[in-house]
Amino acid sequence: MTAKSASEITRSPTTEKEHFDARSRMEELREQIRYHNYHYYVLDDPEITDAEWDTLFQELKELEETHPEFVTPESPTQRVGAPPQEAFGIVEHREPLLSLGNAFDGDELRNWHRRAASLADRTDFALVTEPKIDGLAIALVYENGVLAQAGTRGDGRRGEDVTPNVRTIASAPLRLRGPSPAQFEVRGEVYIPKARFEEMNTERAQRGEPLFANPRNAAAGALRQLDPNVTAVRPLALAIYQLGWAAGTAPSTQWETMAWLREMGFPTTPDADRHLGLEETIVACEAWIPRRDSLPFDMDGVVVKVNEFAIQRQLGIIGREPRWAIAFKFPPSEATTLLTRIGVNVGRTGSLNPYAILEPVHVGGATVKLATLHNEDDIRRKDIREGDTVVVRRAGEVIPQVVGPILSRRPPRRRRWRMPKRCPACHTPVVRPEGEAMAYCVNPTCPAQVQRQLEHFVNRAAMDIDGLGEETIADLLENELITDAADLYRLRKSRKALLSLRGYKEKKVDKLLASIEASKERPLAAVIFALGIRHIGSEVAAILAQHFGHIDAIATARREELAAIDGIGPVIADSVVTWFAGKRNRAVIRKLRRAGIRLEEIGGGAREGPLAGGQFIVTGRLEALTRNQAEAALKRLGGSVGGGVSKKTTALIVGEAPGSKLQRAQELDIPIWDEARLLALLREHRLDPAPSRPLASGSILAALRPRRRI
Ligand code: IVH
Repeated sequence: MTAKSASEITRSPTTEKEHFDARSRMEELREQIRYHNYHYYVLDDPEITDAEWDTLFQELKELEETHPEFVTPESPTQRVGAPPQEAFGIVEHREPLLSLGNAFDGDELRNWHRRAASLADRTDFALVTEPKIDGLAIALVYENGVLAQAGTRGDGRRGEDVTPNVRTIASAPLRLRGPSPAQFEVRGEVYIPKARFEEMNTERAQRGEPLFANPRNAAAGALRQLDPNVTAVRPLALAIYQLGWAAGTAPSTQWETMAWLREMGFPTTPDADRHLGLEETIVACEAWIPRRDSLPFDMDGVVVKVNEFAIQRQLGIIGREPRWAIAFKFPPSEATTLLTRIGVNVGRTGSLNPYAILEPVHVGGATVKLATLHNEDDIRRKDIREGDTVVVRRAGEVIPQVVGPILSRRPPRRRRWRMPKRCPACHTPVVRPEGEAMAYCVNPTCPAQVQRQLEHFVNRAAMDIDGLGEETIADLLENELITDAADLYRLRKSRKALLSLRGYKEKKVDKLLASIEASKERPLAAVIFALGIRHIGSEVAAILAQHFGHIDAIATARREELAAIDGIGPVIADSVVTWFAGKRNRAVIRKLRRAGIRLEEIGGGAREGPLAGGQFIVTGRLEALTRNQAEAALKRLGGSVGGGVSKKTTALIVGEAPGSKLQRAQELDIPIWDEARLLALLREHRLDPAPSRPLASGSILAALRPRRRI
């Protein structure tokens, strides 16, 4: 083909001119594409749209197809297409790739600095901080401005030649901009941004392919592909953090080197910073910790480097770790451990919630023994089996998750996990409604369900009964002092029996009985919430209380009537109707009534205080108070609090991001208050805005704990 084109050139002068034009147009296009890549990947400031970039790229591709003799290996079109290899070649690193020592807190950084300062005989040297992106180290050699070789870390001296793979990484420059040393090496990290990782796993799940455990594993898999065409479709990214070696002159500090490399077109580690003092550096390192989960990449620490190369040389290397740099490590948020067993916990509504029992492992600053497994489908999708070594992740949220098994470490003959056919607490056959992911125990007297219901009943947003933790509830159930929530109000008569239980002293018993007594005064909304009806959270409970004013009115309301209320849909309506139709549930209401629980909303006149007779609604996120605290404060001021905005509403207390209630209030001309106004009222009446008391049990974490007695 090339020969034929060459003969054409000699044959026809016009064709020769055409060739010349095509060739210069191709150069021009490559130049433009490189320029725009630089703006996109390095400066993070694109000048053209993706579509415009595509047009340039397409034109170049077409020209290269017609004139293959002018295709250069560093052309932007040549990132893909290299044939698969049998095995990786070896690259010898001219200078070894080093490791980093770790510091786990400020004091360890101070120790490191003290040592460096004493060796350098000065304390005033500048330090650079860079995120330690959690990917794979790569060393890139450039010759005459063109990418010549890419090697993995390997053992530090010899790595694998992954040049064709690295060429497929869009942000890895194939040809540099402007002047560069004739030969030099840069080092950096190859990684997959978190968002790309999630997309990739979602697509894999849709195709029924196994999922990657984390971005790092996915990046490692992609980089070590023998077929670069597979690497090309994986969303790898590059961040350069070091100049390995260079033939020719280079800047004399880390900070300037990074700016210099950026000029050449390298994407360097984002968010690097330079500091004059150590204490300022420590503050900078610690400031990364809370930001960690919101970053676009996984990072496992901050690298602190001495800025000046002259001092770096003075400090030298000990073993394989430089004395001039250290990694400030975050508490890891992922760890591997053995999953010994999959347990099933029965929820308040009878839902069967599988959880993993783990060999205790330290992750994200806490010891984890249990992790949620969501439901049977999720376990199957991730193919988690008992006896697997699994990756456990603890992100910002409290409940640890099992990311997935490490299949290479699965012992032989492990069977897939199945949801038990019977409830683990009461042995009633399990039901999984069609279309639902959850399986349920449908026995309303299931002891596990009753325990969970009681935990919910006493929690702070519900009946707010102090001194009734998980274990106390279990004691009461086990000793048959209660069988349901309403029985709590008969405990007064069992004072003697209570005192005979181990560890139940007078003080404890009296406190408990007093707290139960006080709960009789809880507002109707709290009582409705306490009943634990599916889909009825405290907000919906407040809407129902305000709309109906009495539990009997709710109990006899028709489905359509309920569904027509603002804030209540057909699902909630169904749930309410079904609950009140239950014989056992109706018996609980009767018992509560007999016990003297207030089952109606108190009228305005019955209250005292500056807001007596007023109806208030809190919406949006307040700054100083939680929603519950604000509502409690309004009540202490004599107001009533509830649900939907109507003409009867006295005022709407508005926080940040208020939503539709604000709009409705404005339409109805309802006065709008801010939090400051409520706080001022509280101050004026010498009321504590937020009396503190920890939440009672019944938290999600409590639900995750396996039960001892049932
Ligand atoms: S400097 C001599 N800077 O961390 C110093 N390393 O144990 C050599 N890493 O696998 C490394 N981000 O690939 C340095 N900003 C950064 C880094 C970084 C990630 C990785 C590196 C190596 C490990 C060092």
